Amino acid sequence: MNEDLPIIVEPSILSGDFGKLADEAKRVEDAGADALHIDIMDGHFVPNLTLGPKAVSALNRVTDLFLDVHIMIYNPFDYVERLVEAGADRITFHFEATEDVEETLGYIRKCNIEAGLAFCPETTHEMIPKFLDKCDLILLMTVHPGFGGQAFMPEILKKIQFTRETINKLKIRKGGVIPDNNPEKVPPFNIQVDGGIDDHTAAACLEAGANVFVSGTYLFGAPDMKKRIETLKGLKP
Ligand code: DX5
Ligand code: ZN
Repeated sequence: MNEDLPIIVEPSILSGDFGKLADEAKRVEDAGADALHIDIMDGHFVPNLTLGPKAVSALNRVTDLFLDVHIMIYNPFDYVERLVEAGADRITFHFEATEDVEETLGYIRKCNIEAGLAFCPETTHEMIPKFLDKCDLILLMTVHPGFGGQAFMPEILKKIQFTRETINKLKIRKGGVIPDNNPEKVPPFNIQVDGGIDDHTAAACLEAGANVFVSGTYLFGAPDMKKRIETLKGLKP
C-alpha cells in the first residue's frame, strides 16, 4: 500500500544544547539528517517558550540543511513573513491555532516555501481531508505539543492510517492531485509524525503510512546520532 514512500529524518533541535546551536546544527548535518526541525512556541498555544525568527536566521547562516519550522503559536499568519526572511524552507502551523487555515497555507506557498499543516492529538481525523490538496505536508502530532521527551500516543496510528488511505484514494501527490501523465515523477505526499519517535514507534508509524520522522530525545540523546538516523532510514514498512 505504501510502496514508494521515502523515509525522511529530521532531528528536533529542541532536544539540543541551546548554548551551542551552531555546533548542534553541524552535528545534525554530519549525522546525515534530511532536515533540521525547529520548534517555535509562544507560551499561549502551548505552555512553553522556545526560539524565534532570530534563531532561525542564525541557524540558516551555519547550515545548508532544509529548515523545517514547526510553529506552535496563535496567529501564525502574522509570523510567516519574518520566518521566510529568516530562511525557513517549510513552515508548519497548527490547524487549531487559526480561523484562517486556507489563507495561511496559501500565503506560505506564495512565499515559495513549503506549507505544512499540523493536527493536535485530540483533533479528529474528519478535519484532515479538505486540506490535503492545499498543503505540502500533514503533521500528525504523536504527543501533546509543547515539550520534548513525552511518551508516544499509539492511538494516533489510526489517524495516520486514515490520512494515508485518503491520500491514496484521492490520488494526492506532493503539490496536488496526481497528473495522468507520468505520475511516478511526482513525489508522494508526506505525512510527518512528531513526538516520542524512536525506532519502535517510527516502525509502527511507517506501517500506518507516515514517512517523515521528527525526533528529539532519541536522536540527540544518542552517543552516535548517525547510527540512529541510519536505523530509522533503514526501516521497512
Ligand atoms: C513537541 C515538539 C517536538 C519535540 C519532539 O511539541 O514539536 O518536535 O521536540 O521531541 P521528542 O522526540 O523528544 O518527543
Ligand atoms: Zn515539532
